[in-house]
Amino acid sequence: MIHRHQLGKVPAKPHTAFYEDGKLLMEQCVTREGFEGPFSVLYFRTPPTDETRVESVKAPGFCPVETTAEQPLHRRHIRTQDISPGGDFVSSRKTLLVNEDVHIGVCKIDQAPANFFSNGDGDECWFAYDRGGVVESVYGVLPFRKYDYVIIPKATPYRLRADGDRGTFLVFEGRSYIDLPKQWRNASGQITMYAPYSHRDFRAPESLLAYDADRDGRGPYPLLIKHSDQLTSHIFEHFPYDVVGWDGFVYPVAFNILDYQPRTSTIHLPPTTHLTFAGRNFVICSFVPRKVDYYKNAIPCPYGHSSPDCDEILYYVEGNFTSRKGIECESVSLHPAGVPHGPHPGTYERSIGTQETKELAVMCDTVKPLILTDCADSIEDKEYHFSWVRRENEAMEGSK
Ligand SMILES: [Fe+2]
Repeated sequence: MIHRHQLGKVPAKPHTAFYEDGKLLMEQCVTREGFEGPFSVLYFRTPPTDETRVESVKAPGFCPVETTAEQPLHRRHIRTQDISPGGDFVSSRKTLLVNEDVHIGVCKIDQAPANFFSNGDGDECWFAYDRGGVVESVYGVLPFRKYDYVIIPKATPYRLRADGDRGTFLVFEGRSYIDLPKQWRNASGQITMYAPYSHRDFRAPESLLAYDADRDGRGPYPLLIKHSDQLTSHIFEHFPYDVVGWDGFVYPVAFNILDYQPRTSTIHLPPTTHLTFAGRNFVICSFVPRKVDYYKNAIPCPYGHSSPDCDEILYYVEGNFTSRKGIECESVSLHPAGVPHGPHPGTYERSIGTQETKELAVMCDTVKPLILTDCADSIEDKEYHFSWVRRENEAMEGSK
């Protein structure tokens, strides 16, 4: 996705005999978009196809996703801070908002990973809210840190180990891809000088995932595969991630939101200026601490907004969010197409003359409407839609 990367040994040419200790290795080509997209070529000591059993598995709140039939058109506040940790990087996932292009949820881990997992429905983008850890995948070991985005390509077998086996994450599942926006690349695929990041900001797996008898035991080794929102467990008798080497463009990458280079103007720029990643019919944007608008009498706080063609969500990470009251860290707001939204009473006026903002948040705009899951419904602040009603004291405060 970012640039060609290689770990371990590969032969001089693909699709040629490649041996280790006299044994022929099995080449596996991971090709996106048929054979038209990016690809990687891996060399396995044991073929990755010899699972001996397949079983159905359920992970409530994630697979399957459950949504209620009736969903009135409301601005929403989903209090993910009210979700308790419980499980590993698969079993603790809670999907909150869905459409046919993206699923958005949180994951609150309090256990070590039980199994490897592979998402056959799309690329994943993890945002590490409160701590780092490591992604161990067929492409090797990728350490990540607090506030990293970690992009994991579709159908990558991996496990995510949070530091101390605890951590909170925002998770996007793109259907089917999440990539750098085309406008941040030149015709050669290089990230342009106009982009808000450079190739140097993206980190790739550092070392291969060697089999470790103490850590990995003697098997069997279940791999949970998600496809069409169903989970199946594929049982391997050998450690199935024993790779001699690989090269290519498909592999997990990490990028820290604080390495994002924000834009500021004389007057307020639209939020999609802070574009970071893009999928089909949705974008992910990063709000990071920055200087704010500096024209005389500029209003740094976002204006009232009607966006008839997009749903907008924000995940609040740190700092005081300029336009919101009653929102806390880990809150998710959803402002759907069809009803206007805007700054809460008092916040618009108070922003005049401010020089900077300390806010840190992740935004996602979708073209198609997002539907709440039962889990999101159970933690929703039902009063949020009416929290714009201006009360007497707030009107006075705002007029100062
Ligand atoms: Fe908006």
